[in-house]
Amino acid sequence: MRKNIVAGNWKMNMTYQDGLALVSEITNMVADETLAANVEVVLAPPAPFLHSIGKLLVAGGPIHLGAQNCHQKESGAYTGEVSAKQLHSVGVEYVILGHSERRQYFREDDELLSQKLKAVLAAGLKPIFCIGESLETREADETFEYLAAQLQNGLFHLSNEEFAQVVVAYEPIWAIGTGKTATSQQAQEVHAFIREQIARAYDAEAALNTTILYGGSANAQNARELFSQPDVDGGLIGGASLKSRDFTEIIKSF
Ligand code: PGA
Repeated sequence: MRKNIVAGNWKMNMTYQDGLALVSEITNMVADETLAANVEVVLAPPAPFLHSIGKLLVAGGPIHLGAQNCHQKESGAYTGEVSAKQLHSVGVEYVILGHSERRQYFREDDELLSQKLKAVLAAGLKPIFCIGESLETREADETFEYLAAQLQNGLFHLSNEEFAQVVVAYEPIWAIGTGKTATSQQAQEVHAFIREQIARAYDAEAALNTTILYGGSANAQNARELFSQPDVDGGLIGGASLKSRDFTEIIKSF
């Protein structure tokens, strides 16, 4: 059965000191009840903090370590980059891939993301693969075609075994950092569509077992309503993951 996941994407925010303080607050507020409620928490801080933050997390506890990106090659002369294998060596379990900010500002396309996916899986890590339409696409009534193509080109080249490791995140670009959240109906409609596409590309069991997160201005006020939808299995949280109280309220929304 699929897991519920609440993942905090810190993006390029926080100093190391602020980050440590935030993690200790979150650790204190997230108790064992989270485990019992089948919610896994993922923290994705900036890369330089990963190792020390990982050391603060209890093995087998509810909080897991995630990275925001990685390079597609295993090692080599790629100045400034970090490989999946290196992330694995410091205790990372999840890697966010295909975030719209990476696609937009760093020109990451389906071809590059396919290579990154393979690298992440080869290193034994789990990708959180993001897809989502722009406002223009939504207003042109092309959301479903667009998302189907993103899934097809970006993800469905994986084998059944590889796909079983993937978490999908639906993040409508118009909702990211804008304070404009998708309604729970809009989220549910898209999540059900994504699940249906997975069933077609793989099988019904794969579809049922895939965790599909919603991301885009999710917060302590709207999380409960979003997470109550049958196909919404948690959230990828940006802004609200930087405040311990807001983030833990979101975790407790299940
Ligand atoms: P937001 O970001 O919660 O700040 O809208 C979500 C994301 O980009 O993952």
